[in-house]
Amino acid sequence: MGGLRRLEYRGYDSGGVAIVDTAATTPTIAWAKKAGKLANLQGVLDEQPLPPSSTGIGHTRWATHGAPNDVNAHPHLDADGRIAVVHNGIIENFAVLRAELEAEGHELVSETDTEVVAHLLHDELERTPDLGEAVRLVCRRLEGAFTLVIADAAQPDVVVGARRNSPLVVGRGDGENFLGSDVAAFIEYTRDAIELGQDQVVVITADDVEVTGFDGSPAEVTPYHVDWDVSAAEKGGYDWYMLKEIDEQPQAVADTLLGRHTPDGRLQLDEMRLSDDELREIDKIIIIACGTASYAGLVAKYAIEHWTRVPCEVELASEFRYRDPIIDPRTLVVAISQSGETMDTLMALRYARQQRARVLSICNTNGSTIPRESDAVIYTHAGPEIAVASTKGFLAQIVACYLLGLYLAQVKGTKYGDEIAAIIGELEKIPAGIQRMLDDAPRVRKLAADLVDARSVLFLGRHTGYPVALEGALKLKELAYLHAEGFAAGELKHGPIALIEEGVPVFVVVPPKARDQLQDKVVSNIQEVRSRGARTIVLVEDGDDDVLSAADEVIRLPKVPTLLQPLVATVPLQVFACELATLLGHDVDQPRNLAKSVTVE
Ligand code: M6R
Repeated sequence: MGGLRRLEYRGYDSGGVAIVDTAATTPTIAWAKKAGKLANLQGVLDEQPLPPSSTGIGHTRWATHGAPNDVNAHPHLDADGRIAVVHNGIIENFAVLRAELEAEGHELVSETDTEVVAHLLHDELERTPDLGEAVRLVCRRLEGAFTLVIADAAQPDVVVGARRNSPLVVGRGDGENFLGSDVAAFIEYTRDAIELGQDQVVVITADDVEVTGFDGSPAEVTPYHVDWDVSAAEKGGYDWYMLKEIDEQPQAVADTLLGRHTPDGRLQLDEMRLSDDELREIDKIIIIACGTASYAGLVAKYAIEHWTRVPCEVELASEFRYRDPIIDPRTLVVAISQSGETMDTLMALRYARQQRARVLSICNTNGSTIPRESDAVIYTHAGPEIAVASTKGFLAQIVACYLLGLYLAQVKGTKYGDEIAAIIGELEKIPAGIQRMLDDAPRVRKLAADLVDARSVLFLGRHTGYPVALEGALKLKELAYLHAEGFAAGELKHGPIALIEEGVPVFVVVPPKARDQLQDKVVSNIQEVRSRGARTIVLVEDGDDDVLSAADEVIRLPKVPTLLQPLVATVPLQVFACELATLLGHDVDQPRNLAKSVTVE
């Protein structure tokens, strides 16, 4: 259960376990499953414990096919109760396979695509007794994305895993081996892991790991050592992972910068597998990402275009491949993903590669699918992000994008070395700026308490403050389940101003004073909403008092260059959303309807 708990952030609408009961006269599968969070499953197991066993599988689900109820919870068994299967992903041809099985007389009890696999395996094992081979044959019939893990009562010492598009990692222990959809599942037992490639099947016993392709050919595997320890993946004394992760942001930013430049400010990116010549050819950048990661991309656009003079578009990954984008080998497609497993981003990336673009990913999860399928990668070093709402992942993504922009500027010569060194110098001061915002968190929490009855909250910003406004609104939506919207402040008069009524809280991110013209315009925007009854909460840098007369509340920001302001301005908005959700009694780490890693399109 410990391993399952550490995976619960990936999905938590039901859970289940199955073990091979070898104490029975004939080994059988014993299982338990329950809708809801793992605590419910634990309740079932406390009342009716499963017999001890050294072979078992477990699952925590985020529903795709079939409602989140007890019957649809995994594991799924074949009709004889001999085979137990857990599954992540979607088997796209399941309806055809199900119809086929039903025509042959199989009775399926759930609405899931997973159960089909258990029944297919049942039939296959009658022809092909070896579980590994039977799994390979069944996988060849499946279409879509899947990670499967299977136990068979007739082969009690073996567990078989298979993966296509969804993640699966092997943990190598001493006299014990593990499978998990990420290393957190087995990190308390081993930090030695093997990443499975696309279309591979793994057969594990206590002492052995054998990996093959779906066609049975032996596969080369890449072992690696995981640096994270158990405590890094646990809450460390905070009420919520999100709070811990918000507080880890100075470190996440510092670690993402670490080792990426020489003392004199020359960028060096070890995982940049694209040569300088290849990068010099790039004449267009397209950033693809989802949710918060896409807002990191929007922030990056301002910096990348400014530093490199290369046009940079930002596109939601889910829209990208459906609009016939203009891409060629001179296009650099940048996929941003904390998890490295977001299916929309992965599919957009694959499309870009088919169109012969160069693909670079910015990712926080070593060995995940998106960086593995990219030509180059810049890892963010934020450490595991468990809370569904992305915080430190976001800031680290912005920093990694800046590193990319500066690296391109260095290679293309669009910035002098001393200019790049100066920007790096400013970036190195950012962790201290974030820490200051964290030290100021009690004031923001008090503000959340004052606004706990708000029914709608608006966020305004211009320039890099605009994506910050979008991110502030997304955090509030996903955590507090409130109507919240972010706008470019200049758009206000084109419609959104109609939303302003007495007492509506409006957060405004004011650009640094250095951006005089912009700043004046934002000040006018604040006055416009305030005169219509809004309660204005203004985020403004130290020493800038021009907005004070129009502000009901002021949140001070340290003085930083405009392009870097999102790295400090986002922090109070995260704190605000987290506190408001807590006050409203919501589960901050696992908001309703959401999953940490969205591995379906
Ligand atoms: O793992 P990714 O960065 O690819 O995830 C992308 C989005 O699903 C993610 O940022 C989502 O929007 C977060 N829940 C926001 O807090």
